[in-house]
Amino acid sequence: MSDKIYVFDTTLRDGEQVPGCQLNINEKIMIAQQLDKLGVDIIEAGFPVSSPGDFKAVEAISRAVENATVCGLTRAVKNDIQVAADALKHARRPRIHTGIGASDTHIKYKFNSTREDILQRAVDAVKYARTFVEDVEFYAEDAGRADIEFLARLTEAVISAGATVVNLPDTTGYLLPNQTFDRISYLMNNVPNVDKAVLSMHNHNDLGLATANTIAGVTAGARQVEVTINGIGERAGNTSLEEVAMILKIHKHLGLHTDIRSEMLAPLSQLVSKTMRMPVQANKAIVGRNAFAHSSGIHQDGFLKHAETYEIMTPQEVGVDKSDIILTARSGRHALKHRLELLGYEIEKEDLNDIYDRFLELADEIKEVNDGNLVKLMKELQNI
Ligand code: KIV
Ligand code: ZN
Repeated sequence: MSDKIYVFDTTLRDGEQVPGCQLNINEKIMIAQQLDKLGVDIIEAGFPVSSPGDFKAVEAISRAVENATVCGLTRAVKNDIQVAADALKHARRPRIHTGIGASDTHIKYKFNSTREDILQRAVDAVKYARTFVEDVEFYAEDAGRADIEFLARLTEAVISAGATVVNLPDTTGYLLPNQTFDRISYLMNNVPNVDKAVLSMHNHNDLGLATANTIAGVTAGARQVEVTINGIGERAGNTSLEEVAMILKIHKHLGLHTDIRSEMLAPLSQLVSKTMRMPVQANKAIVGRNAFAHSSGIHQDGFLKHAETYEIMTPQEVGVDKSDIILTARSGRHALKHRLELLGYEIEKEDLNDIYDRFLELADEIKEVNDGNLVKLMKELQNI
């Protein structure tokens, strides 16, 4: 089995569904081009039947993207599929992503239907999509809560109908990582034609487990991950691209890799955050403002002695200039001395205690001490 993990970015579809995050067509094209440079394999550009604006965006992205496959979402409905095929007609590598609810909750309450009917509709949709494009992905919505034997039958049926990828979304972010692992393993072992398609992980973050579930899925045999920049998406969001890319890069023993150029991650995170008006939380893994900031004395001391004591990746690897030492009342003498030396002060050992006491008083008062505050403090001390 190949060790390449295909990265399917859905920032412009699942991510853009977030209220207040809507983008205009030029912003979408710009982000799609950056995603292409980042090295994602598939860009889900939108849901063409949903609005004339989304249709035009998918059409424009199809023309603009040079390397990645461009994908359009549909329901398992003929008109959706026809409209998506039309929007994708200029794509160098088009993919139609069609599907239907697979859990009994979806089958009963969304479709007022039966498993047999859903299976037939799924097969018909895949066959119809294949009349337009060779690359058809099928999504079994709410696969996370679907009956596993039915899911296996559905997976086998859509692969026989021509699906190249089968997406098994945990739409409600319900599963635990060990459950995800077991479910994907079950499909890998019980779907006779599973080797004819790629299984895909599409996890939502309602319990904060989207990334963990995605990694569990690929260790069980899935070979595509559906992700968004900064993990944006419906409700608590989708799996974050930067987390999965860095986990696979750092944990080389998993033997899996992506083609993501990791040094583009932080700049692209900022671009998406600004254009979508969606701030990145300060402690967000990989791309948050504090991801490479050290503020307690113990950590600062260790970091200054040897960065690997408190960092498992370099900031440059993800496109951040450098790590930060934040000076607060929790900082120690080592960090203070280091910063003063960077500012050009040579501190004698016997002066450090005095400077440090005054620094602590100031830090208690103003919380974070910056370079300007330090220069002022040193001037005051030198005048005494
Ligand atoms: O979460 C989900 O199930 C989806 C599908 C439409 C792929 O976004
Ligand atoms: Zn989703």
